[in-house]
Amino acid sequence: MSRFAAVIFDLDGVITDTARYHYLAWKRLAESQGVHFDEAFNEHLKGIDRMGSLELILASATRRYSDAEKLALATEKNEHYKELIATMTPSDLLPGAVAALDDCRAAGLKIGLASVSRNAFTVLDRLGITGKFDYVVDAGTIAKGKPDPEIFLKAARELRVTPDACFGVEDAVAGVSSIKAAGMYAVGVGDPQVLAAADIVIPDLTQFRLEQYK
Ligand code: G6P
Ligand code: MG
Repeated sequence: MSRFAAVIFDLDGVITDTARYHYLAWKRLAESQGVHFDEAFNEHLKGIDRMGSLELILASATRRYSDAEKLALATEKNEHYKELIATMTPSDLLPGAVAALDDCRAAGLKIGLASVSRNAFTVLDRLGITGKFDYVVDAGTIAKGKPDPEIFLKAARELRVTPDACFGVEDAVAGVSSIKAAGMYAVGVGDPQVLAAADIVIPDLTQFRLEQYK
């Protein structure tokens, strides 16, 4: 019996490996502007929205960019990203993802999705799991991205549960901060040293154990 009434999942890097596609698309974009881009830098972009990520990359560029140029670069990155996700199928679900969702469902929890990606609906659709969620936040309605708590609080409100009755599942430092700022229990997915602010960290969803989250 879980003390929680709802679980709110992140998408990219938790349920599917789109974090890899974001990385590839940003790397190509950054290098086209002469900005060095590697896995370590990418770690800071995880969970950060599109324009916020671009700003972080261009901070290392040798010149300044107009708003119109920034918009064009963000669009270019997104077009590349959309090409990368166009071929996704249910086989791109990460191991343990469906079992974790089904365990939460079997325990009577409501299930939400809190991704700041404007491509989240497309990705869920390609993975064939849209129907497993009671509520998916539309990233276009969120004013402040992660690490602000807005997106997790909105998911809780729409699921009609209080934040303290929710737990969030995240692979990003900014995402774990967002969950904690929302007053929720945080399950980190990844490296415990990177996700030190989480209440518990598991390497991937094959290790998801609902009964251990208190
Ligand atoms: C997620 C990913 C980020 C990505 C953001 C916006 O949070 O972790 O890497 O930048 O979504 O995604 P979008 O698909 O809207 O560009
Ligand atoms: Mg993520």
